[in-house]
Amino acid sequence: MTKLKWWQTAVFYQIYPRSFADGDGDGIGDFKGIIQKLDHLQDLGIDAIWLSPHFPSPNWDFGYDISDYLGVAPEYGTLDDFKTFLAESHQRNIRVILDLVLNHTSDQHPWFLESKSSRDNPKADWYVWVDEPPNNWQSCFDGDAWTYVPERDQYYYHYFMKQQPDLNWHNLEVKQALWDAARFWLDLGVDGYRLDAIGTIFEDPNLTPHNVPMKLAELRRASELAQSPAQKKKVEKYWRDMFKNQIGGPGLHDLMKELRAVIDEYNGDRVLIGEDENIDFLGNGDDELHLVFNFPLADLDRITPRQIRRNQRERIARLKRLPKGGWACNTLGNHDRSRLHSRYGDKIHDAALARLNAALVLTLRGTPFLYYGEEIGMTDLIITDPARLRDTMATWYYERLVNELKVDPAEAALRAGEMSRDKNRTPMQWSNSPNAGFSPPGVETWLRVNPNYKDGINVRDQEHNPNSLLNYYKHLLRVRKHTPALLEGDYIPLHNTAKDHFAFIRKSNDQTVLVVLNYSDSKLDLDFSRNKEIKGKSLHTLFSSAVRSRVDLDPKSIHIGAFEVFIAEVK
Ligand code: GLC
Ligand code: MG
Repeated sequence: MTKLKWWQTAVFYQIYPRSFADGDGDGIGDFKGIIQKLDHLQDLGIDAIWLSPHFPSPNWDFGYDISDYLGVAPEYGTLDDFKTFLAESHQRNIRVILDLVLNHTSDQHPWFLESKSSRDNPKADWYVWVDEPPNNWQSCFDGDAWTYVPERDQYYYHYFMKQQPDLNWHNLEVKQALWDAARFWLDLGVDGYRLDAIGTIFEDPNLTPHNVPMKLAELRRASELAQSPAQKKKVEKYWRDMFKNQIGGPGLHDLMKELRAVIDEYNGDRVLIGEDENIDFLGNGDDELHLVFNFPLADLDRITPRQIRRNQRERIARLKRLPKGGWACNTLGNHDRSRLHSRYGDKIHDAALARLNAALVLTLRGTPFLYYGEEIGMTDLIITDPARLRDTMATWYYERLVNELKVDPAEAALRAGEMSRDKNRTPMQWSNSPNAGFSPPGVETWLRVNPNYKDGINVRDQEHNPNSLLNYYKHLLRVRKHTPALLEGDYIPLHNTAKDHFAFIRKSNDQTVLVVLNYSDSKLDLDFSRNKEIKGKSLHTLFSSAVRSRVDLDPKSIHIGAFEVFIAEVK
């Protein structure tokens, strides 16, 4: 095998600490709980954990509003608990990357409390202050982006909630403070960072207003009501136009280069992964971030062979153009998105489609990211009682719908539940006991547990069932790990006009592998014998989601079952 870096071959698994495992029985996930579950992750076969923020936070945005970059949220444990978690992960050959939130802090961070206290305190310039709102910019979470502070008789800017004031990255002390924070955890041995919302760090210096004829809540409502393709297109354009002047401002790439230099001071190939789809963040392939996510794939409303082929064609071509090459990174789920099992299902074949999409992420060229619970098929839980919503962007929207847009409260509750990210952040389902084994029985969990843990959607039941989704993931991860072509091979699409199936080759120096994903409910009889990589050879099955009696097959006529995942070595 050629020499790839660990983060190129690793499978990442995202832990949302609040919802993973409650070790101390207070209804909230914590490090003690995570540590107890590391064996599950090792067993599953993942190589690295992305831990969503574990820092002290007033929890307006559950850790994405940080009030101390050098600490551990008390509900999650202590710094010693963190160190134990890191050591126990490393002992199992599992790397750990943390979430680094650079764009903003909490409004309760001592930096902001000081900054807002007067116009001339030492941190007066650490955030973005203006005398009057200079434009109509919106916060993507809660309406107006400029919020008034009487102490200064000024306004501050926030791209996210008003409890998340944007840092002023033109101030050198800010930069120093955040680089120091990054170093603090690198010194403890973490393997890198997922960089939160990096696109939002710099805005348009001309402060150009947006030209959308509505505010955030109205736009959200318009999106819900859009029916025809033309209406949908229009609101999509509005979304882009509303925020385009608030993202991607000049200076970002120099900043990322600086951060890369910080990371490169450390040994062990520490890694930077941007929460952005823009390949420009990879710089020349060697001087900015290591990875950005293939969000265009995850943004598809429906995953179809044609869409996948187009997505791969575009992204791989762009990665190849980088002077030093770039590496892909694929994901279909995270804490901000509807769960893949719910999202890409058709209500009839959800389980089969979930298996196909798992295989897609794990066989495409690039580094896969899985989201906790995906491996057991956790689904969205829509919370329709507004009092039980925890995601503040949803409660904000509910209030606007009812009070400003005069929407009927029952409908508003449903809309808020649907858009809320609570639905995809419910507690991990460990077993068929009360609270899904996440918290002890009788404890009220911070967010409702999805009752479907009783229907087999839990780790313990699935461990015992050889045909479970969990065992399917384990098997697939094992095959991936032992198949060099799946780790490092080039991607060669086949059957380029097929609508029902997606077929491709992964080819490395010493191995060629064929992958077929049948996205249809029909059986297929496929001929691969004319392809030049396969001609004259036979196919040796490495993995199939169907039951197959023969392992070695003639490429002239391969029978693929409905929704089958088929992986074979070309020999
Ligand atoms: C990112 C996070 C999201 C958070 C936001 C603000 O998009 O993924 O969860 O709310 O940034 O930090
Ligand atoms: Mg707890």
